[in-house]
Amino acid sequence: MFTEAKLYSPVTRERDGDVTVHLSDDHPGSRDEHYRARRNAIAAIALDYSPGAPVPHIDYTDDEQRVWRIASTELARKHEIYACRAIRQAAGNLALPSDHIPQLDEVSRLLTPLTGFRYVPAAGLVPLREFFGSFAERTFHSTQYIRHHRAPLYTPEPDAIHEIIGHASQLADPRFAALYETVGTAVARLETDSALKFLADVFWFSLEFGVVRENGEIRCYGAGLLSSYGEIDEFRQARLHPLDVAVMGTIAYDITHYQPVLFCADSVDQIVGVLGEFFATMTDETPAELGLRAQPVS
Ligand SMILES: [Fe+2]
Repeated sequence: MFTEAKLYSPVTRERDGDVTVHLSDDHPGSRDEHYRARRNAIAAIALDYSPGAPVPHIDYTDDEQRVWRIASTELARKHEIYACRAIRQAAGNLALPSDHIPQLDEVSRLLTPLTGFRYVPAAGLVPLREFFGSFAERTFHSTQYIRHHRAPLYTPEPDAIHEIIGHASQLADPRFAALYETVGTAVARLETDSALKFLADVFWFSLEFGVVRENGEIRCYGAGLLSSYGEIDEFRQARLHPLDVAVMGTIAYDITHYQPVLFCADSVDQIVGVLGEFFATMTDETPAELGLRAQPVS
């Protein structure tokens, strides 16, 4: 089930103010003291941010800028082959820079005129209720760190490349942006953790890992696929299941491997119709009602 808490490296702050990002042993930067110190410093900047204050800028290093240039150039090539038309058009309208890492207020300057969404900093995992709930105000919490320069096309955790190239490319499309807002308004209605988790699982299999049939091909619109250099080449090998929120909200999955089952829509209209209806009407009772008719997926 949904375990995004494991996806982000935990961040702690001691009483003396020291901030530590706890990278797992198999993280590409785990044995690089400079990288660890860098991650701690960037996390501390996000933790010091308070809503309404100017969004803090990160003075990115040459290594970090190089990683962005490689990843954004390579992902743009992949998007031509694998991303659905709506995403390609939205990314074209957004026109993210490929020569430097945009600060979060630069992302907002590009994105807000298109759909009203703006970016604010996050040190790592944001509690689900706050992360999804902020969509109602068209606000997106984004990490600012960059993956290790030794592996510019791989990251075990969501970094600024995922948050910006993956999510902002979606959020630049008015229909996807409206869908995010309905997620935020749904969260305001939910009281139980199980309902919140069900919503998060549906989000995972759609706005993170969703695919759509377009002119006889399978194309992606999920931010997780759009920002993954490795997985974007592989998703056409996944077993495809029709868009069905009852199954999406109850299927077990492992975030540490490529997703073996993906949910494929017939069109962006269907995504907007089915998911929009679900998020607009979901209550605490919905998981039990839908769970009763969910079938195991093989
Ligand atoms: Fe994400």
